[in-house]
Amino acid sequence: MHNRSFLRCENVTQDTASVRTFALRVLAKEMAEQCDMGKYLILELPDQDGVIQQRNYSIVGRPEADLVEISVKDTGRSGISSQLHSKVVVDSLLLSAGVGGAITVDSLADVQKVAMFAGGIGITLPLALIRQLDMRAKKKIWTPSVQLFVSVPSLVELPYLDELLAMALSSAWLDVRIFLTQEKFVSDSKLFTSGRPQRADYKEMSVPDIAVICGSKGFVSENRDVLNHLFPETKLLIENFTQVSDHVRHSADGDEASCNVTVYGTDQQHQFSKGVTLLGEFDRCHLKIKSQCKSGICGSCRVRLRSGSVRSDGDFALTPRERENGYILSCCSYPTSESICIEI
Ligand code: FES
Repeated sequence: MHNRSFLRCENVTQDTASVRTFALRVLAKEMAEQCDMGKYLILELPDQDGVIQQRNYSIVGRPEADLVEISVKDTGRSGISSQLHSKVVVDSLLLSAGVGGAITVDSLADVQKVAMFAGGIGITLPLALIRQLDMRAKKKIWTPSVQLFVSVPSLVELPYLDELLAMALSSAWLDVRIFLTQEKFVSDSKLFTSGRPQRADYKEMSVPDIAVICGSKGFVSENRDVLNHLFPETKLLIENFTQVSDHVRHSADGDEASCNVTVYGTDQQHQFSKGVTLLGEFDRCHLKIKSQCKSGICGSCRVRLRSGSVRSDGDFALTPRERENGYILSCCSYPTSESICIEI
């Protein structure tokens, strides 16, 4: 997956006050071939401090084989998304470190019922899938029924609103519910509801074969727990791009404690900061660990903790049995003891 390529920005549209869609021409043919809608582009860009960062963005549109669209929300913070908003214009060149992700329309083949849960800009992945299902339905290709729950603070903050409504009105297989978490909305229609989805809303669904969840870490955790409880047989497909920072998170009292790390089966010892993910510190020490999503989803950065303790923040990939056996995700784990031993 890690074929690097430059991308040339060909168009920028302002979708909402804080969301822009960038149309990017993929200049390397090999990468262009991998750009299925629903997968994500790994973009590399300096943040406001000039530190190169990576961030993943779902491919929400693919108007041409080598032209892809990503939608980016400016969070107002100093990360890559804000840099994209402030720096990238038509003809800007961007660098991508590859294409990742495995959730595409093919993931929904041969199932009857799909549920999708999107939080805010997390709508991009469900929309990519729904757009493709819509194309298939128009060609009379089998389409599962889809129930989409979108949660967003207010209506004006939801990109693609018109398109979603138009598809929902014209498609028997698509049912959309929009939850306005911070806006009062008086309507008899079930389309718009004020407040977050309640258990009763989930219970009204017929049991989905597959549920796609996309949003912030908190949103994903909440929905995963509800779905595991109500529909234990449902297969969950999760995407969460709240990337864990590799930078030192200075504690309030300025304490930057370190941890002595031994690499199991070798005589290598390293000092890791307790405020940085293990993956970030492995990288700094030139210890090669496979990684892809850097947000606890794909499981590729799995390592085994042989001794000591860590805090894992946002692990969505490991099974309970793997955790019992000491496996941890290095992209979202921080040392908490004075020393640890890791098998890589
Ligand atoms: S890199 Fe994907 S789970 Fe860590």
